[in-house]
Amino acid sequence: MRVGPLDRSQLAEATAVLAAACAFDRAADVADEKLFDPSPRGLPRTFGAWEGEALVGVAAVGGARIRVLAVAPTARGRGIGSALLAACEVDAKAAGETTLRTLDQPGNYLAPGIDEANAETIAWLERRGWVRASEPRMNVLIDVRDNPRVSAERAEYLITAAARRGYEVRRAEADEIELLAAVATEFGGAWPFELERALRYVPTGVHVALKDGIYCAFAAHDGNNQGLGWFGPTGTWPAHRGQGLGEALLVACLVDVAVTHAQCEVAWIGPRPFYDKVAGVAADRRFVLLTRAL
Ligand SMILES: CC(C)(COP(=O)(O)OP(=O)(O)OC[C@H]1O[C@@H](n2cnc3c(N)ncnc32)[C@H](O)[C@@H]1OP(=O)(O)O)[C@@H](O)C(=O)NCCC(=O)NCCS
Repeated sequence: MRVGPLDRSQLAEATAVLAAACAFDRAADVADEKLFDPSPRGLPRTFGAWEGEALVGVAAVGGARIRVLAVAPTARGRGIGSALLAACEVDAKAAGETTLRTLDQPGNYLAPGIDEANAETIAWLERRGWVRASEPRMNVLIDVRDNPRVSAERAEYLITAAARRGYEVRRAEADEIELLAAVATEFGGAWPFELERALRYVPTGVHVALKDGIYCAFAAHDGNNQGLGWFGPTGTWPAHRGQGLGEALLVACLVDVAVTHAQCEVAWIGPRPFYDKVAGVAADRRFVLLTRAL
């Protein structure tokens, strides 16, 4: 077995490994983004593990996060996962990181942790010195088809109600980069990075609310895990909260997602009651965040 750098020319083989290995996440559908695209912290380092000519495992580490770590089921139990994990840990330490965490890379995350149903992988990491962090993480799933609260008519009704209060609610333009600066100033973090990706979706996966030409709220889908129809990020400037803008923008995004998906996954949620109220939560996924001091 050999572990070494993996580049995009082997995306097809890497995607096949993820498809076979990751039973809890749709990693194969976003393989390119997770393995090779940057996050706000820059490009990841991506590793492959080969037995002979066959790629049997992949891992990507970016900043202080392991983005992906997977070994084909037929190649497990032979030390390949351990070797890939060690490669990630050595690499992150060499890059100056002092701790490493699982999956939750701001701006480019497969999931906000390891799905708690993926008990074998969690236990495998715990046997290797990884510990559970206390922060709980949750995604919620919203039905976007056959859901009376998700329709073009309701989106239109909410947009009209906002207009009566002086707000223009509309889809963002692909070249609307001034939105990124406004969100960076008010909210910061990885949100502008995710919005930039969502603006590249066709049509753009971003809806905005403005008053007198000034941004008051935004919401996006397909800004992370592009193609999976995930919702987020969303934010309303504090002076404009309580005016129904978050609701109008969420429904506009859910109507978009319904074109290609039956459910919308809202990642790394903040206030769950908001999603219950606006559209109803069909199911949730809980995640365990694991960390290791380097
Ligand atoms: C977790 C995972 C990466 C482990 O891969 P693996 O290649 O089977 O890992 P290893 O072989 O190193 O370890 C598995 C067992 O084989 C044992 N083993 C057998 N031969 C070995 C050898 N020659 N050297 C080291 N370990 C060996 C290990 O001791 C280990 O047992 P332990 O955990 O009780 O110590 C793999 O199960 C996987 O891909 N899971 C799903 C991926 C996933 O969901 N990832 C999260 C989203 S990206």
